[in-house]
Amino acid sequence: MSNTIVIGAQWGDEGKGKIVDLLTEGADVVVRPQGGNNAGHTVISDGVQYILHLIPSGILWPGKLCVIGNGVVMDPVALLGEIDGLLGQGVPVSPENLVISDRAHLVMPFHREMDAYKEARRSSKIGTTKRGIGPTYGDKIDRVGFRLHDLVGDPGAFADRFRARVAECNPLFESVGMDPLDAEAALAELLAAGERLAPYCADTVEILHRSIGEGRSLLFEGAQGTYLDIDQGTYPYVTSSNTTSGGACTGSGVPPQRIDRVVGVTKAYTTRVGEGPFPTQNDDLAGRFHKMGREFGATTGRKRRCGWLDLVLVRYAAMVNGFDELAITILDGLDDCDEIPVCTHYELDGRRLRLPPASVADFARATPVYETLPGWRTETSGITGYGDLPPKALAYLEFVEKETGAPVSMVGVGPARDQTILR
Ligand code: IMP
Repeated sequence: MSNTIVIGAQWGDEGKGKIVDLLTEGADVVVRPQGGNNAGHTVISDGVQYILHLIPSGILWPGKLCVIGNGVVMDPVALLGEIDGLLGQGVPVSPENLVISDRAHLVMPFHREMDAYKEARRSSKIGTTKRGIGPTYGDKIDRVGFRLHDLVGDPGAFADRFRARVAECNPLFESVGMDPLDAEAALAELLAAGERLAPYCADTVEILHRSIGEGRSLLFEGAQGTYLDIDQGTYPYVTSSNTTSGGACTGSGVPPQRIDRVVGVTKAYTTRVGEGPFPTQNDDLAGRFHKMGREFGATTGRKRRCGWLDLVLVRYAAMVNGFDELAITILDGLDDCDEIPVCTHYELDGRRLRLPPASVADFARATPVYETLPGWRTETSGITGYGDLPPKALAYLEFVEKETGAPVSMVGVGPARDQTILR
């Protein structure tokens, strides 16, 4: 038995879905502890592409139990759409292989509208996914949220509270020219969703502890990445949950001493969607990836901003998450580079920073300082053995290990399941 957390070391989209998919083979239970359908995990299995937003990618494996934990914010209608999409692709989904925490908070239609409303009024946009994530977590912290047990356990009381909240929100929406919500239509849709989701609703804390007691292995699939963490990220250009490893514990009810291993996932370069500082951003690199059809967001289709690997970020991520090992994805993305600059530290007002600054204004002003490593100019996508990687690619990986203190255990060289090299 071994319980593992997988965490993104950057701004999300590190390719965690694929690493999780790989580690799922050795797991019995796959847990999603935080975030919502702002996340998009792309998994390619037997040549078929699946895009998952709320459901752990373990759903693609027979015999695995998938858990949506108490720390997730869940849009009931979107979740049903995802379930139906998977069923349509021939993937079995039922309460046999998917359970949802009765304590998970629900994303309501007014949360989505509020997300759009707030974003429109911000002078500095965050570039949210407009899935209602921030307002839902806001209501959770404000202790006025709606949880799954409210919807399935007492639909009458749920309906009363829902109508009251819509009545509160609508004048605000109308005051800025947005359409008011049709409370009754939205409610009918939610209540129908609640009926369909009721069999999935469970005390997942109890289920997880029972699984641990039975010696089963848990795999925690962190959504987003370290720099979108509400505490450790580039605040305020972050999401609204704890995306770092501690969030896997609070978001599931599994205590820290039950965790055996934390795997960090970083791309061999850096990407970011949405707004906020990005010291190593490089538009030439972005142009190259976009021309190849790479680096478009799985949830919103937006072009991702791209840049060189930033070890200031990965170093701090290794610290705050306690990475026992690193998975480096899309190494093949750098196959045709002559030279590869890697940021080892920032300079700010004559100071040398090895760790990210707290202030987003300082982050934006920081100048990345690069060490330039030679490119390997060899296609790596067909390589299956770590030792068979070109020596210059191995040197690149060793450089990352040395700078971050985290040993590299996996290397991605393509999107397919068998294109991850295990060391
Ligand atoms: P929100 O989570 O929709 O509130 O968006 C806040 C910020 O997090 C925005 O910059 C989003 O682009 C970013 N974000 C949220 N989820 C993801 C993700 O799964 N991958 C990458 N960026 C994300």
